Amino acid sequence: MPGKVYVSRLLPPVVMEALRSAREISDLKFNDQDRPAARRELMEGARWCDVLVSQLVDRIDAEVFDSNPRLKLVANYAVGYDNIDVREATKKKVPVSNTPGVLTETTADLAWTLIMAVARRLVEADHFMRTGKYTSWAPMLLLGQDVNGKVLGVVGLGRIGYAVARRAMGFNMRVLYTDVERKPYDSEVGANYVDMETLLREADFVTLHPFLDKGSRHLIDDRELKMMKRTAYLINTSRGPVVNEKALAKALKEGTIAGAGLDVYEREPEMEPELGRLANVVVLPHIASATIETRTAMGMIVVRNTLAVLRGEKPPTCVNPAVFVSDESKAVD
Ligand code: GLV
Ligand code: GLV
Repeated sequence: MPGKVYVSRLLPPVVMEALRSAREISDLKFNDQDRPAARRELMEGARWCDVLVSQLVDRIDAEVFDSNPRLKLVANYAVGYDNIDVREATKKKVPVSNTPGVLTETTADLAWTLIMAVARRLVEADHFMRTGKYTSWAPMLLLGQDVNGKVLGVVGLGRIGYAVARRAMGFNMRVLYTDVERKPYDSEVGANYVDMETLLREADFVTLHPFLDKGSRHLIDDRELKMMKRTAYLINTSRGPVVNEKALAKALKEGTIAGAGLDVYEREPEMEPELGRLANVVVLPHIASATIETRTAMGMIVVRNTLAVLRGEKPPTCVNPAVFVSDESKAVD
């Protein structure tokens, strides 16, 4: 039976076109303003629709699920889904889908962009040039640090962490990683499993790729920053709350670590003001997956999940498959 779809913010044109032309969709509403949906708009859409297409800035909580007992799917336009109360969704039997896989390599590219940018002082150098400060080649001008041959520390060897580690092979780096458990595929990328403390003490570049949950909140705090080498850099393309941003700003200011490359913040869209004043930080507005190819591919996964559910099938990238386990089979377990 065709159903109604609400999209909380306009997606790339090809994706909108796929939604518009789908036979499975009887009615399509979307927020076409150049800003996130206001809470009121989101709630209105959520109450009205069969499938809610959400963004990572939309808080999808019990109020949303309570507002619409007919809700068939929340399709999040992101791989991360810490914006959604998945426990509540599962309790209400609403499947939630994300967009895994397609943004892995793109995000790994950006983590590397940040590694290179901080080590070689790219943003400072660009500014130097544009402001007419370049008067002659100089032996000590804008000296950075080598990336090649250094030690890369990967926190979380999931899909993205793995893709970041794989790139390090081309730079002849030693790769350490830590995770909740040793990964069977770590040797494919020459990554050595160590505990967090060893990683922090030995890595020249610490790059964060954990899933954000209670266990990873402020995973990097004062104590961890102090364990890092004074010459080391911190890279975060995962989720802001994984790092205590105030502690990081202090560490950067005091020279506890050499620098940081950030794509995410604790209270987006805000950032700790001090970060914006420091030259040893490169700050980006959460653009790790922001390529035309990847944002389109993420959208097409949203479309596939949406149409599957409207056809009465399981969404292909469901993060809470428990909703499809019937109560009887649970009793058998
Ligand atoms: C972006 O941050 C995502 O989770 O897709
Ligand atoms: C990326 O696609 C991930 O799920 O790690």
